[in-house]
Formats: sequence, structure tokens, C-alpha cells
Amino acid sequence: MRLPANFYKPLAVGAPQPFRELPVRVERMIHFMPPHVEKMRAKVPELISQVDVVLGNLEDAIPADQKENARRGFIEMARDNDFGDTGLWTRVNALNSPWALDDIVEIVSTVGDKVDVIMLPKVDGPWDICYLDQLLAQLEARHEVKKPILIHAILETAEGVANVEAIASASPRMHGMSLGPADLAASRRMKTTRVGGGHPSYGVLADEGEAAARAFYQQDLWHYTIAKMVDACASRGLSAFYGPFGDFSDAAACEAQFRNAFLQGCVGAWSLHPSQIAIAKKVFSPDVEEVRFAARILEAMPDGSGAVMIDGKMQDDATWKQARVIVDLARQVAAKDPDLAPAYGFQG
Ligand code: GLV
Ligand code: MG
Repeated sequence: MRLPANFYKPLAVGAPQPFRELPVRVERMIHFMPPHVEKMRAKVPELISQVDVVLGNLEDAIPADQKENARRGFIEMARDNDFGDTGLWTRVNALNSPWALDDIVEIVSTVGDKVDVIMLPKVDGPWDICYLDQLLAQLEARHEVKKPILIHAILETAEGVANVEAIASASPRMHGMSLGPADLAASRRMKTTRVGGGHPSYGVLADEGEAAARAFYQQDLWHYTIAKMVDACASRGLSAFYGPFGDFSDAAACEAQFRNAFLQGCVGAWSLHPSQIAIAKKVFSPDVEEVRFAARILEAMPDGSGAVMIDGKMQDDATWKQARVIVDLARQVAAKDPDLAPAYGFQG
């Protein structure tokens, strides 16, 4: 680890100063699109108004013979659109692939000022982040990029999970992490071919009754990893995300998986299909009743200390902090989706 005194120094002469406080943005869904497909690029202006983050995917799901077209397509869409307060991200190829270096060099040298975050797949340890950190600083300096490009790691190898805390601490460029359940399942030799979500055989059998009559309760296969990722991120001020949910035909299961992640502390998830945008909005926008109740806690405890009773429930310094998290998130969401503001009670 770098010395504390050096942690926030730019890694190249002329590179922008790393952020000390990460920019606060609503990121309920990171919407994946394939930039080599012209028809999809044509939909980017519409997407910008619908989603919180547009991500041009260069990695898995892009055929090997389309990798360069995807990179070119991403540069074109970055140049041709004004993203306003919608995030522009790209998922580059893995560092050991034949494409990663050109992905990074070409994108930063052409549209480095437009890209907010680079999502880095298959991160095994802090060394991967340190490499990208240094390379980005050199490129930012050479191309006079004004604001530092952040790094978002995908947690999708067993080694990455073992090193998750060191990854989170590796650089002031760290934005956050997403769970990558498909690659992680393969890396860990889990016995599932699904992309995220539960598995019908993973659960517990209730005690009572005859074996045949005993209730079986399916459990969340990803609970442990999400909790570990959330702790690593939250303790360092980073954002944690659930990743992909592959069964587009099962909206209810997608919503349940997103909701588990939300309740555990994740701020968003990936949307791989347009139908998942609304699911992510619904899940990751705070609940109206919850926001109104949280606002009452803040009102009843103006300095955040002491104890009060509201509707028979005890509130103290700790619940005040929980209420603060919910109200702050609701304010950001309302700024992005103004129709939600009146429901949250923010007008006027
Ligand atoms: C995402 O990249 C995954 O592997 O699930
Ligand atoms: Mg993956």
C-alpha cells in the first residue's frame, strides 16, 4: 500500500488531482449496450434520458471479430452525445486479453474527458487496479484530461473475492464494485449455469413433519459474496452493485435478486435488457413510506442525538444515521426523476 501522504498524489506529472470525495451520482442501473451495433448506438440519445448510467460493453458478449468495431463504436457514441448528468462508462476487456491495452489507450486519448468510469473485469487483486491507475494517469497527462477517470472493479474471480478489501483500498480512483455471478460461479466451481439469481436446489429443509411434507426454503446463493463486497465498499466510501440477471423472462426473480442486494446495501444493478431498467428504478429508488418516515426522524431529532419515540418506535443516534442515508438518496433520486419528488414530500 502507498504511504498515506502519497495516496492522493497524481501518479503522473500533469495528471488531474485524484478525487478526495467521490462525486455523488444516482446510479440505480448501469445499462449495458453493445457499441458495435449501429441500431443500438442510434438509441443512445433516448437511453440517456431513461437510465442513470450508459455503459458501452467491450468485453464478454462482444464477439472476438467485433472487438475493434465495439471500441470504435463506443468512441463514436461518446463523441456524438451529450450525456448531461447521466454517467458514461465502458467495460474494457480483461487486462490479460489481446484488446485491453488498445481499449484503454484509444478511449482515453480520444474521449477521455467524456468517460466517467472504466469498469475493469476479472480483477484478481490490488495489482490490477494499480496497473490501470498508473496507465490512466499517464494517458490523462498526455491527453490533458481534466477530471480523473474512475475505476469500477467486477468481483468475479475467487481470488478477487479473497482480496476484495485490498482491491477496494488500492487507489483513490476506485468508484465501486459489481458482483459478476457468471464468471464467479465458474471460477469457484459452483454448480450453476445461471447468470445470477437463485438455484432451486440451494436451500434449507424445515424441521417439522415427514420428509415428504417438509417445507423447502430456497436461499440466496449470492448472500455471502454480496455482504463481503458491501462491507469492503461501504467501509471505504465506495458503491457496491449487484451485477447481471440473465433470465430476462423472469422479471419477478430479477426484482427479488435486485431487492436482496438493495436491502444489503447495494446502490444499483446492471440492466442488460430494457425491461430491467424499470425493475432497477423500482427497487433502487427508496420506498416512499420509508422516506417519509425517515424525514420525520430527522425532523424530530434536529441535531441527530438523543432518543425519541415515533409511532411507538424508539429512535436514537443510530436510526438518525439510517434515516439520513435514506433521505439523502431520495433527494438525489428526486432530482433525477422529478415526478418522484412530491411523493417523497420534497416539494416547496
Ligand atoms: C459478469 O460479468 C459476470 O460474469 O457475471
Ligand atoms: Mg463476467
